[in-house]
Amino acid sequence: MSRIAYVNGAYQRHANAAVHIEDRGFQFADGVYEVCEVRHGYIVDLTRHLDRLDRSLNEIRIAWPMTRAALVVVIREVLRRNRICNGLFYLQVTRGAARRDHVFPAEGTPSTLVVTARRTDASLIARKNAVGIRAITVPENRWDRVDVKTVGLLPNVLARQAAKEEGAQEAIFVEPDGTVKEGAATNVWIVDKDGTLRTRHADHGILRGITRTTLMDVAAATGIDIEERAFSVEEMLGAREVFITAATSICFPVVAVNGKTIANGHPGSVSQKIREAFFDIAEKTAI
Ligand code: PDD
Repeated sequence: MSRIAYVNGAYQRHANAAVHIEDRGFQFADGVYEVCEVRHGYIVDLTRHLDRLDRSLNEIRIAWPMTRAALVVVIREVLRRNRICNGLFYLQVTRGAARRDHVFPAEGTPSTLVVTARRTDASLIARKNAVGIRAITVPENRWDRVDVKTVGLLPNVLARQAAKEEGAQEAIFVEPDGTVKEGAATNVWIVDKDGTLRTRHADHGILRGITRTTLMDVAAATGIDIEERAFSVEEMLGAREVFITAATSICFPVVAVNGKTIANGHPGSVSQKIREAFFDIAEKTAI
């Protein structure tokens, strides 16, 4: 069965699907995106992902490519055509195709919409949850509007690659004063030495992850207190637990940072408890 992608009104074979060479996403990274998990035939937290898409589009003044209801129809159709039961979909909206010019194209230039989907490897995810992952820290070098989920991810790409080259799976951005921001494609959490679950407050400095938001609901439902407060690399290294969250991975334990073992070097109980309760609390939309 061949993969199918949606591109500007047509369902096409994934292998041949393409946008114009002067698409502003390609020319300027002038676009936004969402990644959403599909689990057991349900889309996880669709409402929150579409709300964040709406915010991202508004922040950079790109028009919705179609109504929200129509977009949901397209997403469902892509998932159905690719027979996704467990996996994810990716959607990207750009400011459209136009002769290269930094200023916005003429009024009425249609936005570009691409939706793709793929299956995920459940055994790989289970392995990462069982043994944990390793992370490195890298200096924060991104612009100050990383709260907008734009496709301009070059610093994130370079950071992840640096992690890979050091035998790690995530890179964590750190401010010059030693404050932890977030991962290259994840939010970062610690259970500090007093047992408090902490994550950095969400302002313009990090992406307000949907998994992060739902995890707060999970914590409330399971009686875990959360503090939205910044922490330092030193506090992270001395933490009882470190974990990262994203729609692609929900909640991966981090067992080493910069080669230094966190706690006893094994995944902690808080992240496990959260992972177990997560899908009971998250919104589930049937495909
Ligand atoms: N990334 N921070 C950054 C920089 C991210 O790119 C992501 C997600 C997150 C977590 O957000 P959420 O919980 O909504 O997935 C935090 C996606 C998965 C990606 O780029 O593939």
